[in-house]
Amino acid sequence: MSVLRVNHGAGGYDIVIRRGALGQAGTLLQLDRQVLVVSDDGVPEQYLRTFAACCGRAETVLLPRGEKHKTLQSVELLLRRMLEKGFTRGDCVAAVGGGMIGDLAGFAAASYMRGIDFYNIPTTLLSQVDSSIGGKTGVNLDGVKNIVGAFYRPKAVLIDPDVLCTLPPRLRAEGMAEAVKMAVTSDAALLRDIERGDPYDNIEDLLYRALSIKKAVVEQDETEQGLRRLLNFGHTLGHGIEAVSAGTLYHGECVALGMLPMCAPEVRARLIPLLTRLGLPTRWEGDGEAVLRAAAHDKKRTRDGIAAVLVDEAGKGYVQTLTADQLRARMKEVWNI
Ligand SMILES: NC(=O)c1ccc[n+]([C@@H]2O[C@H](COP(=O)([O-])OP(=O)(O)OC[C@H]3O[C@@H](n4cnc5c(N)ncnc54)[C@H](O)[C@@H]3O)[C@@H](O)[C@H]2O)c1
Repeated sequence: MSVLRVNHGAGGYDIVIRRGALGQAGTLLQLDRQVLVVSDDGVPEQYLRTFAACCGRAETVLLPRGEKHKTLQSVELLLRRMLEKGFTRGDCVAAVGGGMIGDLAGFAAASYMRGIDFYNIPTTLLSQVDSSIGGKTGVNLDGVKNIVGAFYRPKAVLIDPDVLCTLPPRLRAEGMAEAVKMAVTSDAALLRDIERGDPYDNIEDLLYRALSIKKAVVEQDETEQGLRRLLNFGHTLGHGIEAVSAGTLYHGECVALGMLPMCAPEVRARLIPLLTRLGLPTRWEGDGEAVLRAAAHDKKRTRDGIAAVLVDEAGKGYVQTLTADQLRARMKEVWNI
C-alpha cells in the first residue's frame, strides 16, 4: 500500500493506493455513518456493492452515465436525497466512479450544509491519475464545461488499481495520456520508464509517481495562479480539437494530439511512437483554423495571446504566451495544416 499526503493550509488529506482497497474501505475510511454513495450506470455494479457493504448506512444514487448528466439538476437530485434521508453535518458523500461522478458528487458535498465530508474513490485511470486530487469540483452549464463549481478538498482519496481491469481500451488509453502529460512536463525518469515497457505492469508505481507530480503542483498552487498551469500541457489545442471533433475523439485523445505541437522536435520524436503504442492518436487532419478559433475561447487566454505550456526538454515544461500565428505555425510544423 502507498499513501501520499496532500498538505494544505487547513491540514491535509491522504491518497491511499492499494490493490483491493475497495473491499477494505471500511477500515481505510470513516464509513460508520450515513454515506451517500454516488455512481453512474456505466460503473460495474460489483464495485458499488463491494463499497456499499463497507458503509454503516449506505444510500446509493445511480446517475445515468455521460458528461451530459454532469449538471446542476444531478447535483440537486443528490442534495434532495440527502435532505430526505436526514443527512447531518456528521454524514458524508462518497463518489465511486470516474471524473464525472467525482466532480459532481464533490460539488454536492461542498454545497450540502455548506460542506460535509467527501470521499473520492476514482474508478477510471483518468480519475485515478489526475482528477481525483486537487480539489476541483463542479458541473457544466448550458454546454460550458465545469463553469459552475468550487474548490473543495476530499477527506481522503481511495485508489484501487484492480478496478481498472474492466475499463475499455480507449478509456485506458486516455488516462495514460494524462500520465504521459505529467511525465513530459515534470519527470523525465517517469517518461523513460513509461517508454520502456507496459505501464500496466506496474500500475501502482505509475499512479504513485504521477500523483506525486500533481500533489507537488497543487500543494504549491491549488487555485491555478501559476505552477498548476503546467497540468494544462496539451490542453490549449486539445480543447480546440475536442470542440471541433464534436464527440468523435475522447478528451485524453485530444490532449495527446494537443501535446505534439507544444514540444521541441526531439521530444516530439519520442512522444509519437509512445502515444501510438499506448493506443492514442498522433495525426490530425481537421480544420486547423477552427481549432484555433475554439482555442481562443480558452480560459487561459490573455490580452496578448494564450498561455500555453511548452516542453523543449523532457521533464521541463514551462508556460509561455503564444499568439494565434505562433500556434498556427506549430500546428503546421507537425501536421502540415
Ligand atoms: N476535477 C479535476 O481536476 C478534473 C480533471 C480532469 C478531468 N475532470 C473531469 O473528469 C471527467 C472525465 O472523467 P472520466 O474520463 O473518468 O469520465 P467518466 O467519469 O465519464 O467515466 C467514463 C466512463 O467509464 C465508466 N467507468 C467508470 N469506471 C469504470 C470501470 N472501472 N470499468 C468500466 N467502466 C467504468 C463510467 O461509467 C463512464 O461511462 C470530466 O467531467 C472532466 O471534466 C476533472
